[in-house]
Amino acid sequence: MRAMKSIVILISGRGSNMEAIVRTARAEQWPVRIAAVISNRPDAAGLAFAAQHDIPVAVVPNKNYATREEFDSALKAEIDKFSPDLVVLAGFLRILTPAFVEYYAGRMLNIHPSLLPAFPGLATHRQALDAGVKVHGATVHFVTAHLDHGPIVAQAVVPILAGDTEEILAARVLEQEHLILPRAIRWFIEGKLSIENGCVHIAS
Ligand code: GRF
Repeated sequence: MRAMKSIVILISGRGSNMEAIVRTARAEQWPVRIAAVISNRPDAAGLAFAAQHDIPVAVVPNKNYATREEFDSALKAEIDKFSPDLVVLAGFLRILTPAFVEYYAGRMLNIHPSLLPAFPGLATHRQALDAGVKVHGATVHFVTAHLDHGPIVAQAVVPILAGDTEEILAARVLEQEHLILPRAIRWFIEGKLSIENGCVHIAS
């Protein structure tokens, strides 16, 4: 029997991506323990879902720390209590220090709501509408110190349609996020991902 891998999920708000991971892991019976859900915001709605599903939750409020370095070291201490094989940023809206990112290199994934390298940063749906692109989407990538630019594991494409608003487009993209993030995590857990020259190879 394979050893049980463990995952820590970081959230900042609603937590629908975290929910998709938890639901998919259970439905597909992954050999995985969701060891904890950690939020930088005490009011993150997703914490309630995690607690209801018997997942340990923790809050490391960024407001309590004067510098990014202090926050990141508190966050790292909390994460490492659970010795995770993988850390997943699932709607975690904080910029992390290079030292933190380096420490979790090759074992931290992020979901970003655009087809990277297009539209890094915030307000990605607004950026896409303003640019007039005809397709948009979401990306799962390994986290590196270059914000929203790590090696790409999975992407999903959606059309941009006449009459789209930011909200309509965000909902269309979110539906895809909920599919590709669990899929990418599953590949990681199965040991299928390797990084060569900044590109992710997925073993069949
Ligand atoms: C998602 O669109 C994620 O890609 C973005 O913020 C949103 C978080 O949603 N960074 P949720 O908290 O997972 O519901």
